[in-house]
Amino acid sequence: MTTTPDETPGRQAGPSRRAFLTGSGAALGALALPGTTGVAAAAPARTGPLRLTHGVVTGDVTATSAQVWARGSGPGRAQLVYGTDPNRVRAGRSRHTGSAPLDEARDFTVQVPLTGLEPATRYHYAVRLHDKGEPVQGPIASFTTAPADDDPRDVLFTWGGDIGQGLGNPPPFPAFSSMLTQDPAFFIFNGDTIYADSTTAVGGAATTLPQYWAKYKENRTDGHFQSLASRVPLIVNWDDHEVANDFRGPDEPLMPIGRQAFHEYWPLSVGPEQIYRSLRWGREVEVFVLDGRQYADPLEAPDGPDKSLLGREQRDWLIRGVTRSTATWKVLVTSSPLSILRSVNPPQDDYVSYEHELGLILDAFRTAQVANFVWLTADVHWGQAIEYPERGFWEFVGSPIGANPRKVSRPLSPTFGPQERFLQLNQRLYGSVLASAAARTLTVDLRDEGGTSIYQVVIPGR
Ligand SMILES: [Fe+2]
Repeated sequence: MTTTPDETPGRQAGPSRRAFLTGSGAALGALALPGTTGVAAAAPARTGPLRLTHGVVTGDVTATSAQVWARGSGPGRAQLVYGTDPNRVRAGRSRHTGSAPLDEARDFTVQVPLTGLEPATRYHYAVRLHDKGEPVQGPIASFTTAPADDDPRDVLFTWGGDIGQGLGNPPPFPAFSSMLTQDPAFFIFNGDTIYADSTTAVGGAATTLPQYWAKYKENRTDGHFQSLASRVPLIVNWDDHEVANDFRGPDEPLMPIGRQAFHEYWPLSVGPEQIYRSLRWGREVEVFVLDGRQYADPLEAPDGPDKSLLGREQRDWLIRGVTRSTATWKVLVTSSPLSILRSVNPPQDDYVSYEHELGLILDAFRTAQVANFVWLTADVHWGQAIEYPERGFWEFVGSPIGANPRKVSRPLSPTFGPQERFLQLNQRLYGSVLASAAARTLTVDLRDEGGTSIYQVVIPGR
C-alpha cells in the first residue's frame, strides 16, 4: 500500500525509483541479470566450513509433501536427512534426499522437495551440506504434515503480514515467538515480507536481484522468525513491497526480478512465475492464496467487466476451487483488504478499485450456495474485523507484525455492506484461527505481539 513519508522514517534517500526507471536503457537492461553485484548485497567471502546462514523454512506442506528452503554460506551442495525419529535423523541414519547445488546465481539458496510423506505425521529433518570436505549437518528442524482430506481434526493456524519497514522496524519481531507458543499447524505470511522499496540497514530501494536478496536476508536474521520456521510450516503470499510500492505487474519493470527473488527466498509449491495456489488441511480447512499483484489491470481504468485485479485465469480458478471445495471452511488469503476506502483520487491499489470483479466472485459464491468462507487480509497496518451480513462472511485484517502501526483508519466502501465489528490502531498484531470440528465453529482472534487476544469472535458454521 502507499506509504506516506511521515510513516516511513528514513525512506529512500537519493534518486527515486521512478527516476532510476526512467533512466538509461543500459541501467534497465542490467536489472534482469542474475548475479548482478550490488554494493550492499555482495556475497561475503566465505570463511570456515560451509554452513547454513539463515536457518531453514518449510513451506506449502500438504498431507504427503513439503518444500524446504535453506541457504549455504558458499558454493556446494545440500541434501536433507529426514524421518520421524529425531535421534536417527540427528545421527544421519535416516532417509535422505538427493543433493541440490548451492549456486551463486541463486545467492546460495536451495529448495528441496520432500514427497511420499504420511499425513498428520511429525517429521524431523536436517540439512546436510557438502563441499570438498566432510559433509556438515545442520540442526534438527521439524514440521507436521497436513491431515488427510477426510480427517476431521481441529486446525489452529496464524496469519499476519508486514515486517521490516524502513529503518524504524528492523528485527527482532517477537510476534513470531508468540505464534510459536500457540503451536499452530501453519503460519500464513500474507505479504510485505520485506520492504524492498524503502531504505533499511542494508541499503536503499532495491533495483537489482542482489539488493532484493539482501532485504530478505536482513529480515531472516530474526531469531524469533527462525525459531518459528524451524517448527511451523509457512504459506507465503506477496504484496506490493516485495517489488515496489503499489506496483501492478503488467506495468512494473521490476516485477520479474522481485518475483524471482520472492521465489528464491520463500518455499512455494508453485513457480517460477505463479504465486496463487490452494492448500488443504484435513476436512476442516482449505486455504486459497490470491495474487493481487502481478495480473492487475491499470488502476486508472474505469471499473467494470473489463477490469480485473486477479486476471481472468486466477479468478476462474478461485471461483471453481471455492465452489467445489469439500472443506468445511474456505479461507481466502489476500494481502489487500476488500472494502477499506483509502483514496478514490488517485485510485487505490486493491479491491475497492476493482469492485466489479469482487462482485462477480461473491455472486458466484452465492449462486453456488458456498457457506463458511472468510477472508484474511493485512497490508493496512491496523487490525480490524469486518462482517458482511448481507453476504454471509467476515474479513479479518491482521497487521502489522513488524512495521509501523497506523494511528488513523479509513472508512469502508459501502458496496458489499461491510460492518466494522472491531478496530485496533497503533499496535503491532497478528491473528489466529481455530477451526473446531466438533463444535463446527471458526474462532478468530486478533492478538497483540505478545500473543494476548485483543478481540475474539466465534463464527458458527452452516
Ligand atoms: Fe505493509
